[in-house]
Amino acid sequence: MRIRPFGNSLINQIFVFFVLATMLTGCFHHREHQKEHHAPATQQRFDDIELWVKRFEDPERDKWQKPAEVVKAMNLRPGDIVVDIGAGTGYFTRHIAAAVSPSGKAIGLDIEPGMVKYMEEDAKKLNLSNYEARVSRTDDPELAPDSVDVIFLCDTYHHIENRVEYFRNVIPSLKTGGRLVVVDFIKDTDFGPPRDHKMAEEVVIEELQEAGYRLLKTHDLLEYQYFLEFGI
Ligand SMILES: C[S@@+](CC[C@H](N)C(=O)[O-])C[C@H]1O[C@@H](n2cnc3c(N)ncnc32)[C@H](O)[C@@H]1O
Repeated sequence: MRIRPFGNSLINQIFVFFVLATMLTGCFHHREHQKEHHAPATQQRFDDIELWVKRFEDPERDKWQKPAEVVKAMNLRPGDIVVDIGAGTGYFTRHIAAAVSPSGKAIGLDIEPGMVKYMEEDAKKLNLSNYEARVSRTDDPELAPDSVDVIFLCDTYHHIENRVEYFRNVIPSLKTGGRLVVVDFIKDTDFGPPRDHKMAEEVVIEELQEAGYRLLKTHDLLEYQYFLEFGI
């Protein structure tokens, strides 16, 4: 019997329809993924300091954010230099400063001068002389080569634009054995920012691998956020 793959029989027409439909769906799916992969960061500003201080420093946050446990799990050593990118009020930075004292340093970076002012006052109030705060550029944290042991970001990764380029460019600032730690909201939950502002964990991993990092560890500590540790 001769088979005519694209003949006129109904079965052949149905077959061709399914093949084309599958190819098109795959194509759109791929494009959706690409779109997310390169999705621009949310342009949200955090210049209403009073409002954001209330949110970031809400004592209820400690219950699910577990800042002391997160910093403990990062396994920092006294003497480490740690940069907290998008530090906000320094909710984590003060814990980091305590963990690396006395010889180490915590540097809180933020693009909002109001947040940096808040951090500076907080560091003074807490008498943490190894806690520094700086205004940062949106596209470059301007870190000196071979100067940092750990770069930390909590709920900030998805706000950064051109992430692959941004994180590729910070690699030279990491010392040998240096790490990048990312904590951010799980996409498929209603907790935290709206779903379309959140980034899937696998997209973060994929982007950072493209930038030149390798995943070292996934911490299973937080209910609403992934907590990823990368090396170079
Ligand atoms: C959601 S807040 C998180 C604050 C803090 N990490 C915390 O967990 O409480 C995000 C912060 O990142 C800052 N930010 C956004 N884009 C940034 C960038 N490109 N570089 C540095 N900071 C940035 C914002 O101003 C804001 O304070």
